[in-house]
Amino acid sequence: AQLEDDMLIRRKKGWEIPERDATPQAIYQNRRQFLKGIAAGSIGATAASLPLGSALAQGTGTTADLYPVSRNPAYTVDREMTEKAKALTYNNFYEFGSHKSISQAAQAMNIRPWTVKIDGLVENPIEIDFEDLVRKMPLEERVYRFRCVEGWAMTVPWSGFPMKALVDFAKPLSGAKYVEMETASQKETMPGLRQFWYPWPYVEGLSMAEATNELSMIATGIYGEEMPKQNGAPLRLVTPWKYGFKNIKSIVRFTFTDERPVSFWEELNKDEYGFWANVNPKVPHPRWSQAQERLLNNGESVPTLIYNGYGDYVADIYKGMENEKLFM
Ligand code: MTE
Repeated sequence: AQLEDDMLIRRKKGWEIPERDATPQAIYQNRRQFLKGIAAGSIGATAASLPLGSALAQGTGTTADLYPVSRNPAYTVDREMTEKAKALTYNNFYEFGSHKSISQAAQAMNIRPWTVKIDGLVENPIEIDFEDLVRKMPLEERVYRFRCVEGWAMTVPWSGFPMKALVDFAKPLSGAKYVEMETASQKETMPGLRQFWYPWPYVEGLSMAEATNELSMIATGIYGEEMPKQNGAPLRLVTPWKYGFKNIKSIVRFTFTDERPVSFWEELNKDEYGFWANVNPKVPHPRWSQAQERLLNNGESVPTLIYNGYGDYVADIYKGMENEKLFM
């Protein structure tokens, strides 16, 4: 069951160049970035959205004061929680390397200031500093199952807000059918970007019905703390009924569009990874079974559930779409 050894892109192996260490990242921010942050931070900031006395709230500070947030008891699962240390050190984040031990390298990523762009078919296109955005949003904690397409699974408490709140903030026009999301590209901090055969930047997408489903969450924290860089700071998608690769990390852009986005893995290999990527134990990956999953905690192998156990919430979305490749 060492599926993670069977990396997603074995067939490309011959082209790989030795991975170099991350360029050491200067701790200071340069003056231009700092000024840009101030400018971006002022967009949409209101006195009410900033905590009293928080001089740092405009783009250069921390959001640690927001956590922990209260847990929503409607979203719990009958599975043991994954140990924090495991979830924070066993990651997929190809921008930092195509293996699981990227947690150290990811510390180089610059996450302040962090500008989020909302554009495309919306009434309210905006560039907003992450901190202004997160302070406008209704934060809560939810415990979700998480199933990677490679066959491993974890159960973690995410902090964040319903993606529907972001959609409502953007005010999509009636023609918007999908939301495309994009990860930051930081050439200086992300050695994976030099692996030129990948279709950077990492892109993912959801239909509007998926984006506004109550389960879809923009996570800004985990285990009651701000999101660690390796898990996708400062904001990442969480869609627990889909394979993990849909859960795009470190998002800088939400584009509302009438065209179905082509996501990173689909672009790389459309015979193995599709747009919908819903979890289904009965539809094997072309190179391995999806019937079981290996729990990160103890290595135990347990049966995988259709829609990762979330069918009551999401099965209706896919009615009448039987001819689509819903499970890859
Ligand atoms: N997002 C970006 N930008 N880059 C990635 O390589 N990997 C995906 C997803 N989001 C990935 C990403 C995959 S394959 C998985 S399984 C999850 O992130 C892993 O999330 P975790 O490290 O928090 O467990």
